[in-house]
Amino acid sequence: MRISQSATLAGFRRSVFSLSPVLVLALLASFSAPASAAKKIIFDTDPGTDDALALMLALNSPELDVRAITVVPGNVTAAMGLENALRMVSLANRCDIPVARGAQHPLFQKLITAEFWHGKNGLADIELPASKCKVDSRFGPDVIIQLVHASPHEIILLPVGPLTNIALAVEKDPSIVPLVKEVILMGGSISGGNVNAAAEANIYNDPEAAQIVFQAGWPLTMVGLEVGDQALFTHKYLDQLGQTHGQINDFIYSVLKFLLNLSGTFGAPGSPMYDPSAVAVAVDSTLVKVQEMHVDVETRGEFTRGETVGNRRGQVERNVLHGDRYVIEGVDKITPNARVCVDVDADRFLQLFVSRIRGK
Ligand code: BDR
Ligand code: CA
Repeated sequence: MRISQSATLAGFRRSVFSLSPVLVLALLASFSAPASAAKKIIFDTDPGTDDALALMLALNSPELDVRAITVVPGNVTAAMGLENALRMVSLANRCDIPVARGAQHPLFQKLITAEFWHGKNGLADIELPASKCKVDSRFGPDVIIQLVHASPHEIILLPVGPLTNIALAVEKDPSIVPLVKEVILMGGSISGGNVNAAAEANIYNDPEAAQIVFQAGWPLTMVGLEVGDQALFTHKYLDQLGQTHGQINDFIYSVLKFLLNLSGTFGAPGSPMYDPSAVAVAVDSTLVKVQEMHVDVETRGEFTRGETVGNRRGQVERNVLHGDRYVIEGVDKITPNARVCVDVDADRFLQLFVSRIRGK
């Protein structure tokens, strides 16, 4: 029997009108937000325990469409990071996402890994099954360049490790800069470091790359220690994750248990959610408060190499030498190059995280 299009529409209207108004609104909302509206991201990572949390948050957030994963050395070697990324996309049944190997070392310094915080295998010593997914044969920075050109003004770069791959992509093809929608990175701090008094780990692990990325001229959001250190994953949230099960749920539960034990040995009440915080900002930017400022990366200081130096006043004095003394001839406004996250609604972020992972 042939059903005409108008008859089908009439039937649709009839069935819609017989529904409750709330249900109709929900239906209409779902029609107006097609999956293609999800934000396209390239996730650049050094997996890494909190990288694992961040990746699983990204893969389980309908607001995000992970187009590629590029691996950078940092927490672990490039080879170990690649293996970890492949095992995780396999666990999540997402072999459709290209996983590409990137740089093998920072631009100008020796790689220093951090198995102490991430376990001997980088994944909290949890042995995930061998990956069903295969590595993409392309070089990570080339994947970034190709995807940005394929979807101009649509791609968000989401680096949660040292910025080596992103810097290499910009250096190879600066024409990607105006075509990238936004960079949302986990790294930096304007209130002291976690590696030493001045520097945050991702920036410390490749300061020259970070300076290239901060000065590139694209919209950039810095999700640094000001966010992660406030968002502590405590036993309260761990218990919530322990009540539900699923392959991803159970993996993430074990990673967080490892991190909470480790933090506990230092007397901390919870584990800072560094990398997931950048993903959360991509999902919902209202979770954080931002302040626009100009950020430079210190590359030479004996005690400050790797520090992100943010101009919080938005201006500098114009000191001009008059004979043997300076005269302030004016005050120059400084153009911001970053939106620095300075505050977070920690509980809302942690609840979002738990709700996305529960039962997965
Ligand atoms: C950052 O350093 C790494 O150890 C974490 O994965 C995170 O990206 C926090 O400073
Ligand atoms: Ca990381």
